[in-house]
Amino acid sequence: MSKIQPLSSTRQNADLTFKLNRQFGRHGWLRLTPAYSVKLVSEILGASDRGIRVLDPFSGTATTPLCAAYAGDSGTGVEINPFLTWLGNAKLATYSPSCVHAAREALRSLISQAIRANARCVAPPPMHNLQRWWEQEPLEFLCKFKAALDDLSVKESPTRDLLLVVFCRLVIKLSNAAFNHQSMSFKDKLKQQSSKRPQPALFDMKPDLAYIAGVEGQEVLDSAANNPSGVGTVICGDSRSISGVLSGNYDLLVTSPPYPNRISYIRELRPYMYWLGYLNNGRDAGEMDWAAIGGTWGIATSRLAEWERSPDGFRPPYLDAILSRIRKADKRSGPLLSNYVAKYFDDMWCHIRDVVNVMAAGARVHYIVGNSVFYDTLVPVEGIFADMLSKAGFSDPRITPIRKRNSKKELYEFDVSATKCMSS
Ligand SMILES: C[S@@+](CC[C@H](N)C(=O)[O-])C[C@H]1O[C@@H](n2cnc3c(N)ncnc32)[C@H](O)[C@@H]1O
Repeated sequence: MSKIQPLSSTRQNADLTFKLNRQFGRHGWLRLTPAYSVKLVSEILGASDRGIRVLDPFSGTATTPLCAAYAGDSGTGVEINPFLTWLGNAKLATYSPSCVHAAREALRSLISQAIRANARCVAPPPMHNLQRWWEQEPLEFLCKFKAALDDLSVKESPTRDLLLVVFCRLVIKLSNAAFNHQSMSFKDKLKQQSSKRPQPALFDMKPDLAYIAGVEGQEVLDSAANNPSGVGTVICGDSRSISGVLSGNYDLLVTSPPYPNRISYIRELRPYMYWLGYLNNGRDAGEMDWAAIGGTWGIATSRLAEWERSPDGFRPPYLDAILSRIRKADKRSGPLLSNYVAKYFDDMWCHIRDVVNVMAAGARVHYIVGNSVFYDTLVPVEGIFADMLSKAGFSDPRITPIRKRNSKKELYEFDVSATKCMSS
């Protein structure tokens, strides 16, 4: 396996995560915890020529294509999740001044309908434990806002997309969701209440929902007016067979694929996906998670228990030894977790051996990946990626540690880069 640089000086660097993106206009429109940072992508783009074709096969919130478009390049994302595909394209669109103006006017009318006592409501989304997500008053506001949005005469337009983005921001802003963990959780009401001093009745005011909607709307619409000079698009598809999704000779690939860390993207995206009709029940959520690499939500777990490794997967003896250690570490969950890791690398191998077909000769690829620990076994994801890239026809693989992930001392993120050989 490839050697890596020493890690002792590599720190947590929060500005290399999604946290930094909130201050960068469109990049901050909606949050996805595993999104990576504009700074990281811009640094990689900055080392290349301009006017190039940039690919991100695991586009997520479209950080890479949007950075590429703002740099004047052409950015293409591939994303398996239809909601993220829609969001990515909304972030990449060019909005004319008249479209932004129309969205501002429409937003005023949506807000005034959402606070009207007898306005029409849509049914709340069919989510489990709805009352945990929203209190009665914000829920009613959202149902009225959405009804007014659905009643707009234009069904599909850039103006409507902008208003849907504002709506998605409100869905989270007005919820009890908290983002103080690696992924999303709920605000601890009891803790919040006990930590606050009792307030005099005069100050026990309800949040002004109309004001909040105005602030969220303004942020989205101001950044919509700042159009990228380049172009970008996100295609909904499966990057395990990327040459079936797109053809082309891309000059640069910059991506952060799923890590083998059992994070479910659907879990965090559920509120948006239910409200916007991309999800109707828990079973669909499990199916979507199973279709994505590294998914573990609902049905995905039971499918994993029955899953078997592909005979033509990437199977170096050191990976077999790692899988066997994980399997034996715990009688009950060891076999499931070992299957999880094995499937992750089978899926990634499908992607890497195909992605070579859509890259130009001499193109550089950058995979931002994190390592993992299962029981006491470290999975050196970065080294395995470097080896897969070499086997698939890329040369000069390099592993650069970029940041420490959390308090666990052995968890890091790395940039694994390589160049497509001239002859492959
Ligand atoms: C770590 S996230 C990418 C985050 C992204 N860099 C950003 O800044 O938002 C990985 C993404 O890969 C997507 N994904 C998982 N399996 C996929 C597949 N087979 N094909 C395409 N996308 C996939 C997930 O839905 C998720 O959005």
